[in-house]
Amino acid sequence: MTNCHFLFCIARLFVVWLCVTDLVNNNTTRENMSVFGVDLGNLNSTVGITRNGGIDIVINEVSKRETSTVISMTEQERFIGESGLDRAVRNCNNTINCVKRFIGARIDDPAIESEKRFLSCPTSGDDQGRLMFDVAYNGETVSLYPEQVLAMFIQQLRKYVNRETTVDPKMPADVRDAVITVPCFYTPEQRRLVIQACEMAGVNAMSLLNETTASSIDYGIFRGSSLPEKESEAQIVLILDVGYGATTAALTAFWRGNLKVLARKYDMYLGTREVDWTLSQHFAAEILNKYKVDVNENKRARIRLLAACERVKCLLSGNMCAPLNIENLMDVDVNINSFQRGEMETACAGVADRLKTLLVSVIEESGVAADKIASVEFIGGGCRIPMFKRAVEEATGKAPSFTLNASESVARGAAITAAVFSPKFQVREFVTYEQTHFPVKLAYFQENATSVSSVPFLPNVNKIVSLVGKGDFYPKMLEVTVKRADSFSLYAFSDPENEAVKSLFPQGKYVTGEWTIGAASKPTNGEVKIRVRIQANGLVAIEGASTQETYEVEEIEEKKDPENPEKEAEKITVKKQKTRRAELSVTPNVTLLGHAPEAVVKCRKLEEEMNNRDLLVNRTKDAKNELESYILDNRSRIGDGGAWSDFVSADDKSKFLNMANDYESWLYEEGSESTLEEYTLRTAALKNIGAPAQQRWRMWDDIPFALTQFIPKAQAVRDNAISNIGKFAHITEDEIRAVAARAEDAIVWAQVEVETYQKAPKFQNAVLTPATFDTKIKEIETAVKVVLAKPIPKPPKEEKPAAPAAAEKAEDAPPAAPASDESTQVPKPDELD
Ligand SMILES: *[C@@H]1O[C@H](CO)[C@@H](O)[C@H](O)[C@H]1NC(C)=O
Ligand SMILES: *[C@@H]1O[C@H](CO)[C@@H](O)[C@H](O)[C@H]1NC(C)=O
Ligand SMILES: *[C@@H]1O[C@H](CO)[C@@H](O)[C@H](O)[C@H]1NC(C)=O
Ligand SMILES: *[C@@H]1O[C@H](CO)[C@@H](O)[C@H](O)[C@H]1NC(C)=O
Ligand SMILES: *[C@@H]1O[C@H](CO)[C@@H](O)[C@H](O)[C@H]1NC(C)=O
Ligand SMILES: *[C@@H]1O[C@H](CO)[C@@H](O)[C@H](O)[C@H]1NC(C)=O
Ligand SMILES: *[C@@H]1O[C@H](CO)[C@@H](O)[C@H](O)[C@H]1NC(C)=O
Ligand SMILES: *[C@@H]1O[C@H](CO)[C@@H](O)[C@H](O)[C@H]1NC(C)=O
Ligand SMILES: *[C@@H]1O[C@H](CO)[C@@H](O)[C@H](O)[C@H]1NC(C)=O
Ligand SMILES: *[C@@H]1O[C@H](CO)[C@@H](O)[C@H](O)[C@H]1NC(C)=O
Ligand SMILES: *[C@@H]1O[C@H](CO)[C@@H](O)[C@H](O)[C@H]1NC(C)=O
Repeated sequence: MTNCHFLFCIARLFVVWLCVTDLVNNNTTRENMSVFGVDLGNLNSTVGITRNGGIDIVINEVSKRETSTVISMTEQERFIGESGLDRAVRNCNNTINCVKRFIGARIDDPAIESEKRFLSCPTSGDDQGRLMFDVAYNGETVSLYPEQVLAMFIQQLRKYVNRETTVDPKMPADVRDAVITVPCFYTPEQRRLVIQACEMAGVNAMSLLNETTASSIDYGIFRGSSLPEKESEAQIVLILDVGYGATTAALTAFWRGNLKVLARKYDMYLGTREVDWTLSQHFAAEILNKYKVDVNENKRARIRLLAACERVKCLLSGNMCAPLNIENLMDVDVNINSFQRGEMETACAGVADRLKTLLVSVIEESGVAADKIASVEFIGGGCRIPMFKRAVEEATGKAPSFTLNASESVARGAAITAAVFSPKFQVREFVTYEQTHFPVKLAYFQENATSVSSVPFLPNVNKIVSLVGKGDFYPKMLEVTVKRADSFSLYAFSDPENEAVKSLFPQGKYVTGEWTIGAASKPTNGEVKIRVRIQANGLVAIEGASTQETYEVEEIEEKKDPENPEKEAEKITVKKQKTRRAELSVTPNVTLLGHAPEAVVKCRKLEEEMNNRDLLVNRTKDAKNELESYILDNRSRIGDGGAWSDFVSADDKSKFLNMANDYESWLYEEGSESTLEEYTLRTAALKNIGAPAQQRWRMWDDIPFALTQFIPKAQAVRDNAISNIGKFAHITEDEIRAVAARAEDAIVWAQVEVETYQKAPKFQNAVLTPATFDTKIKEIETAVKVVLAKPIPKPPKEEKPAAPAAAEKAEDAPPAAPASDESTQVPKPDELD
């Protein structure tokens, strides 16, 4: 039915470095040589970087390798990551967590109601029903799209990357290329929105990557030659990721240099937070019973209980029983002692059963016999929970293994993939065969079509071509031939016949691409060849369209007369039809998926403004602290009895003390929340008196000390001069003694100067500085050098040498030596310093 054929069935995708030393090493650009990979989690996120030395996990400002995916907005500033988590309870109305869940969400989606159990920030919908978070910021209620919030978070992660890669603080690194992982159930629209979130944060998302695939890459790449050579003998590994919000299981085949996703299943609502939630409901009932307060009625209390349940769950991973203690929860102190692990497992049995079902179904779908599975690699926060480990064993017959780093493997795979996509790295071949989850089709209208096909959501098409079906692997490139001679529209859509598509695509938005193909300027053969690329990020791109144009040319032909071969050939003009390939214009509808480009630019500006405001708030805080500590630290120094007290005039002293006292009270009153300018102005006013006082106080010790250093140096210069007496015939003793005397004089001068300085009032600025002495030393040194460097006069031709020393020298010199040589020869004085 289709007239489409593959250009490359399977493109080479992942290529990995030979070894660490193969990575390009260029010190001059090293700071910006890195790329990073982000494991974006509902609870925690991890960032890996690839640079010259290999892959590293980046630490955040509190030196943790994982950063909470929390954004807490306040009136003035944003707290992102760990600092956001600190405010999650007290600022719950303006705190956003699980932002990843809400990317592309619609306000009327029934699933959103269940999501809101974990969200404390109010939401609303835009004019198209897209979900937005309503937060109080900068004196007003601001509605933010989830992707804007994600942009803030990515921006924060990028700061960690930049800090990590900055070698010289004067040249801060500015790393922008990244690969972001997403859940495999993200729709093309959600993927597009993640890319746009990166744009808003100024990050170039080179590609997106499915989470389990990222960790498969981390698994496969470093196993190299320990893997079987042939696909038929491939090692089958089940990668299981039980995260906070969702669980994915991928059955993957590994053989040398290759990995192939055989089957993948997910449960969007199975995660460790389901355990937290179940526990919280269990405890809420107990608290209602015991303390007569309903936690579910109070948002803050609900969040606190949820957080406390998370701790209980963690404790029960290592212990058989744990207490639940929450102080002042709706005015009661909750103390529930010795909650047993068994009780948790009974309460959460349904959650563990869902995990078993998922594992059984993924193995079933792959068609691989359970005993062919070499290992079950368990990652994600859920891998620490004993009942989940048991569920794995019961469903697969294998104890889970923990070869992969549970919290870092996805980020590492993403960082490796970032290196693959970046031209900055040299990499070795490693092929990844991804599995398609959403079948993608192409649709258009063909005139006089003999067979017609239709889909309800695209009324104006009659031809449908399958691009990737379930079980196909990609990225790939293919060519589709369309019978059209004029301009026409092309659509890409995800096929709703597929269950996953039907359940995941909101409001029947199945169309994921729309392009207008331009008409040719000349008559054509009525066929357009479309080059389609299914990108590694899962989105469809039309790379080009071309047709065969027909055109006429006039050619001159020579026609020979067969009768008369001697006669000159006759030239005649003939018209010829020729064809040539012509590229047609391809115009994508850029507003179809995600936000319009202008809207993204606007969000980028807003993000920059908010970032600048955060910077200003930080600088203002610093300036306030500086003023505060200046007063506390230096007031007592200037005050009577303080170290600097004698080094300010009485006027300045009282001025300084008055200012310091005034500013101190101001800081506690109207100045408690002032501007950067107000703080710096006041600090500067204090410094105006304080800094010179400190300087004079320093000099009081420094100048006498400099004198003690000066005297031996000057003496050395003098002694050096004197030691040269009699060494050179052309330098007289008088000359040398004269410069030696200058050194002597300098010593006397310095002693007098210092004495005068010490007699003057201490609050007067010294005329002297230690540098004055250095200058003096240089001066006398130079004077000595000049004398000793005096050129030897040219010996008169006939005259006898005047001094024996000079005579010896003259004899040594070859008679024919050019005079110029001698005149430039400067005798080297003995050491001068
Ligand atoms: C190192 O960086 C310089 C300056 O950017 C560039 O000209 C040079 O080609 C780089 N060398 C390598 C080996 O990449
Ligand atoms: C590159 O940087 C390393 C470490 O900073 C240094 O040891 C090495 O000498 C540098 N190499 C070049 C060619 O500058
Ligand atoms: C959050 O908003 C609700 C409703 O506007 C309000 O009652 C509550 O006091 C707020 N909570 C906090 C912590 O500000
Ligand atoms: C990194 O790139 C940024 C922006 O392009 C530039 O300002 C910075 O100087 C670069 N740093 C280094 C060390 O090259
Ligand atoms: C999330 O990160 C924090 C550290 O920031 C860590 O203590 C916690 O265990 C992590 N949670 C999970 C489920 O990995
Ligand atoms: C992952 O690796 C880091 C660094 O080696 C280590 O600190 C951490 O404990 C590991 N996590 C797990 C779950 O193995
Ligand atoms: C990721 O997962 C989606 C959905 O399961 C699938 O269609 C796609 O092929 C996978 N791979 C990539 C690279 O996106
Ligand atoms: C379609 O059919 C009509 C009528 O038979 C004909 O005029 C037209 O050229 C055909 N179009 C194409 C593209 O073949
Ligand atoms: C692009 O798609 C949007 C959303 O479906 C639609 O409203 C708009 O009209 C389309 N634009 C063009 C130029 O076709
Ligand atoms: C402001 O300071 C806080 C804490 O020191 C830090 O976490 C945050 O990243 C800073 N913000 C900016 C924009 O630098
Ligand atoms: C005290 O004053 C000196 C001189 O102005 C300044 O360098 C120093 O930072 C001040 N101390 C504090 C804690 O601000």
